[in-house]
Amino acid sequence: MIKSVITSLASLAFFTGVRAQQSGPMIVKADEVVAEIQPTMYGIFFEDINFAADGGLYAELVKNRSFEFTLPLMGWSQPNSDRHSQNENSGFATVIRSDRKHNARFCRVDVKNDERYSLVNEGFRGMGIKEGEQYNLSLKAAKQEGNITKIRIQFIDTTGQVLGETSVSPESNDWKKYTAVLTPVRTVAKAQLKITFEGTGSIDLDMISVFPENTWKNRPNGLRKDLVQLLYDMDPGFLRFPGGCIVEGRTLDRRYQWKKTVGPVEERDLLVNRWNTEFGHRITPDYYQSFGLGFFEYFQLAEDLGAEPLPILSCGMACQFNTGELVPMDQLDPYVQDALDLIEFANGPVDSHWGKIRKDMGHPEPFNMKYIGVGNEQWGPEYIKRYKVFEKAIKEKYPDMIIVSGSGPFPDGEYFEYGMKELKKLNAEIIDEHYYRSPEWFRENADRYDSYDRNGPKIFAGEYAAQSVAIASPENKNNWECALSEAAFVTGLERNAAVVHLTSYAPLMAHTEGWQWTPDLIWFDNLGAYGTPNYYVQKLFSLNKGTHVVPVELEGKAVIGQNELYATASLDKNTDEIILKIVNTSGQSRRQKIVFEGSSRLASRGKMTVLQSDDPEAENSLEHPDMVSPVEKEIKVRKDGMEISMQPYSLNVVRIKNGK
Ligand code: AHR
Repeated sequence: MIKSVITSLASLAFFTGVRAQQSGPMIVKADEVVAEIQPTMYGIFFEDINFAADGGLYAELVKNRSFEFTLPLMGWSQPNSDRHSQNENSGFATVIRSDRKHNARFCRVDVKNDERYSLVNEGFRGMGIKEGEQYNLSLKAAKQEGNITKIRIQFIDTTGQVLGETSVSPESNDWKKYTAVLTPVRTVAKAQLKITFEGTGSIDLDMISVFPENTWKNRPNGLRKDLVQLLYDMDPGFLRFPGGCIVEGRTLDRRYQWKKTVGPVEERDLLVNRWNTEFGHRITPDYYQSFGLGFFEYFQLAEDLGAEPLPILSCGMACQFNTGELVPMDQLDPYVQDALDLIEFANGPVDSHWGKIRKDMGHPEPFNMKYIGVGNEQWGPEYIKRYKVFEKAIKEKYPDMIIVSGSGPFPDGEYFEYGMKELKKLNAEIIDEHYYRSPEWFRENADRYDSYDRNGPKIFAGEYAAQSVAIASPENKNNWECALSEAAFVTGLERNAAVVHLTSYAPLMAHTEGWQWTPDLIWFDNLGAYGTPNYYVQKLFSLNKGTHVVPVELEGKAVIGQNELYATASLDKNTDEIILKIVNTSGQSRRQKIVFEGSSRLASRGKMTVLQSDDPEAENSLEHPDMVSPVEKEIKVRKDGMEISMQPYSLNVVRIKNGK
């Protein structure tokens, strides 16, 4: 939350309490545009890791709703089932595999004693429900033998107390969908769904689902509103999906296949989530992909966010950190066809095969997809061979489509050097670079792109995050030191907007109880969410990117660590403002004179937004979401510039009307 404070320059300096160091003036050359800043400069990277989709953004509350998990009753329990001897003649559930093409399994419940038998779903680490809000239940049922007259559905708390109740009356021996509404009387983070019956006999159940009515844009079966709101507030320039390593799969069979994620939800075949047992320290065997959040929903989300959709597809190579399984070159066609068909799905006319499927899903207008990624984080000659085939096929049919290629998982070393060399030879348009490195690395590499060839491929800084301990260590923290170091680095990305066209922090989201990878930009539980200090860094850069880079210098040099300061400046030609972002990575306040050259009609007041903490280890949390969060102040500006005082460990964003 941004708090408004009006303060004079003198009082700013006074209240810092630490003696401010004064250096020479920082010169902003407001009339020397060096590069355009792409609208895609700051975007978001979405991957279904850490329960980000099922159990997170996708607002479904029932886990394993269609009984398709490897253990088909995972997530379900039968507290009084007669499989336990003391409950003889109560009832039990059997999972049956039908001959249906998709989602073949369903659950047959035999009820012998309707006062005792119940079937309970535990949700994703419980179900978050809110008092007085509406929850829409739907299920499919087909009566078998006997006479079950009612299916009762309740929200219960962990002690079994009923928090809300509804029922449906099954009336047919054929599959039929039933709907009802539950309205909880209490807000609870760990509710469960209890199903009981009236009458005895057997009944088949499938697709047992509960969604909040209150989703993003109130879409039925939609996305969690609070989580999408956090994304929307970042004003992202693009949405990359669906990952990450999830694109590749640990084996080719388990790669992400977008065609299996569109069309009616009940026909989308579930897949084990590749992150479920990836890390011994964070095993989540109940992590699957229902694909309720599939490619249509990703495109729709990108549209809602005003972001360019940027899908990344498998290039016929499974994750090289796992099996590295390869599809032979003479069997690559289906993979290439997937890419071509995806473009038709997103952009094709409604009378094309895939365009019609998009239309039937409710979006006749094209999604105007402009970018497509080939492979996630592949490396080596096998990648280059496959990339060439994709590039040829895509460009032949869709010459305007911009192709994103990858330089592997590391920002340097053999794989990186090889990938960059080969991709440059191929005149690749945009290359994705990944860096999961220490906070020091981020500060020390703020000049990384200063030497990149302005005429070479453009860069997508597609996955990055400072790791406080080590890559993917469960001890990594989203602390202020990491976020501030990323801010220092991002000044270098923006200064080099001539080369760097897209950037995104990764991963995006994590459930506080269901995560596998840390750090993450946004954390949530079943009821709430918060942005980390890293989130606020991303948001401030995104909301204050401007349209054109201009030089900002200290003693004739770009500001890359002198006095532990890092800076970037831009113009916003839409609002006619000068924007200056300065990161003070030192533990001391810094008093800094700023001179704006080439701008003689500056407004007398401007706005300064400060993200700061004296404690490099400070973190936000569900309990204290604003521990490190932006504070807005008004500042005075003289004709020729101004003097600002920057607190220790601070990101400072100044906006002044240019008036030219
Ligand atoms: O962001 C987590 C993982 O890190 C991504 O899935 C992968 O691309 C990278 O190695």
